[in-house]
Amino acid sequence: MEQIKMILDCDTGHDDAIALLLAAAHPSLKLLGVTVTAGNQVLERTVENTLNVCQHMGIDVPVYRGCDRPLVREQVVAGDIHGKTGLDGPVFEKRVREAEKEHAVSFLIRTLLNSDGDITLVPTAPLTNIAMAMRLEPAIIPKIRRICLMGGAVGAGNATPAAEFNILADPEAAHIVFTSGVPIVMMGLDLTNRTLADMDVIRRMEAIGNRAGKLFSDIMRFTFNTQRLNGLSAGPVHDVTAVAYLAAPELFKTQSMNVEIDLTHGPCYGRTVCDINSRTGKKANALVGLDVDLPAFWDLVEETLRRY
Ligand code: BDR
Ligand code: CA
Repeated sequence: MEQIKMILDCDTGHDDAIALLLAAAHPSLKLLGVTVTAGNQVLERTVENTLNVCQHMGIDVPVYRGCDRPLVREQVVAGDIHGKTGLDGPVFEKRVREAEKEHAVSFLIRTLLNSDGDITLVPTAPLTNIAMAMRLEPAIIPKIRRICLMGGAVGAGNATPAAEFNILADPEAAHIVFTSGVPIVMMGLDLTNRTLADMDVIRRMEAIGNRAGKLFSDIMRFTFNTQRLNGLSAGPVHDVTAVAYLAAPELFKTQSMNVEIDLTHGPCYGRTVCDINSRTGKKANALVGLDVDLPAFWDLVEETLRRY
């Protein structure tokens, strides 16, 4: 079976950490590198968290430090959901793993330019690194096979009434990406809010009995509580859906539509305006996830964690 080549662009983060576990171990995916941006916490923390997860799980993939702030707006982080470190909950051994010297944006440009156009980008974070790479070297744009991202929503937001966190944290970067012409798959809150790791799911992954199951449990026990701030009954594994879609698209119901980012500085700043009823006549630029087969999704997560 030919593996799908991918680069994970993340801001680790509880759900990012689990997305990383899946990206590194699913048999149909080939993880070429991990680029990190500021988002859930400041860059120093998100890089540290990514390296800790890689070291703890023996994930031998290069990690690149990326942009430390959004392109235009002032920085926002999600300390209310992910805690002071950005990955509160699990305890890691002393870190010896280091990030690569090369900047994430330069790694993205170099790798895409040297590719056969067969690499998918999987952003689970604000889109700062990807937008920077597109602006710095537009020749990468036709080289990107697809961008399969977690972010946005057709309906309500989670960071503001209108906006989802990843898009709100860098709306101008999201605008660059959504207008780039690269085929986009958008896994938004409409479906990711359904991927709740409740106590049954947590105990099920823990029962696998390996390091990955234990890490899943340590991570999701923490967000089980903080996500109640968002009115949810447990923590959703939002970012995992972007990786799962790549591995098993048949688990998802999607619809093609035009998605525009609201860049006005009112209450809808950072909203993904999704033309689900084709009211604008504008060309579709994204395949938007609307629903997921949850039992099959959790089977996929469990099977992949068992591979560790
Ligand atoms: C997104 O925001 C972050 O807090 C999560 O890691 C996820 O990428 C959900 O809105
Ligand atoms: Ca994230």
